[in-house]
Amino acid sequence: MASPPTAGSGVARLHTLIAELRLPVVAAPMTRISGPELVAAACAAGIIGSMPAHNASTTAELDSMLTGLLSGLGDAGRLLMPNLVVHRANSRIDADLECFADHQVSAVITSVGAPDSVVRSLHRAGIAVLADVASVAHAERAVRAGVDGLVLLTAGAGGQTGAANPFAFVREVRLRFDGVIALAGGIGDGRSILAAQVAGADLAYLGTRFLATDKSRADERYRQAVLEAGLDDVRLTSRISGIPSSILQSWLDQHEPDPAITTAGFDFGSLTDAGPFAWSAGHAVSAIRQTDSVADVVAALDAEYRSAVDDTLARWRPTPTPHTTSGKE
Ligand SMILES: Cc1cc2nc3c(=O)[nH]c(=O)nc-3n(C[C@H](O)[C@H](O)[C@H](O)COP(=O)(O)O)c2cc1C
Repeated sequence: MASPPTAGSGVARLHTLIAELRLPVVAAPMTRISGPELVAAACAAGIIGSMPAHNASTTAELDSMLTGLLSGLGDAGRLLMPNLVVHRANSRIDADLECFADHQVSAVITSVGAPDSVVRSLHRAGIAVLADVASVAHAERAVRAGVDGLVLLTAGAGGQTGAANPFAFVREVRLRFDGVIALAGGIGDGRSILAAQVAGADLAYLGTRFLATDKSRADERYRQAVLEAGLDDVRLTSRISGIPSSILQSWLDQHEPDPAITTAGFDFGSLTDAGPFAWSAGHAVSAIRQTDSVADVVAALDAEYRSAVDDTLARWRPTPTPHTTSGKE
């Protein structure tokens, strides 16, 4: 039997895993977009892959998805980190937690709510916990709950997002947290991945960049809208889910959001039913020019990252020698 996890071991395990990645990148979970095929392609390409548990319509379906994924991925299976919505409206939390424990996934990413109620049981199962947060107050609460990592949602991130500036958010969280930090929001190229690291993050968290890949579940119209959009075509609105979200203007042009939604609160059912849903995308849409395979996107990010490192080093200015005004000294 594996030895019981020790305090802080989740952070150490995450750092070990990050050091083995081809790139410090998470293919972030996306409702209705990321299924096992996108996760498998991401992990096979050497980055972390995530999908929301609710993209499986039942825990039994989740169980069979994880069985298939983990047996197909072999060693790369440790790069799989499912996402769990921890809002009280999710009635599947306990069953999904048990499923994660059965499959011994390396980590779970929580969202839409405070992770307090799930950290203990995940740690008991030897599973690390990352929680997504959109404010310093929420980050502090998650740290008090004992999470191993934080996903900082910043302005322009796809899905439900925050409004914080990424530099300021990482700086302030780093002052009080030495666990793993993933930065989310607008990261669509290798240069931005390097910038996230320079700012103090361990991982770049990319959703939008994978929206138009071959393994995305977005239909043709949604995919085309993503390809055509630029930063100015992304709107921040609470009128879809009750939580501020990044939605494409082209979708808002065709649909009248329900004015009651702002006060309706979060509706977990809307994530899992098969009905129409709003086209979400973040500011990183401007980085997408065509439908590519996940492997090609990761290869492009890798090449951009490496050339950004070289370019940055070439522009690095070593400390100048002390200035002397005359030859009199
Ligand atoms: C279409 C879409 C659906 C999303 N669904 C989820 C979700 O179910 N759970 C979650 O934690 N985050 C979700 N997100 C947010 C992403 O996981 C991630 O935080 C975000 O995409 C990162 O910012 P970026 O889009 O600028 O890369 C979603 C994002 C998009 C674009």
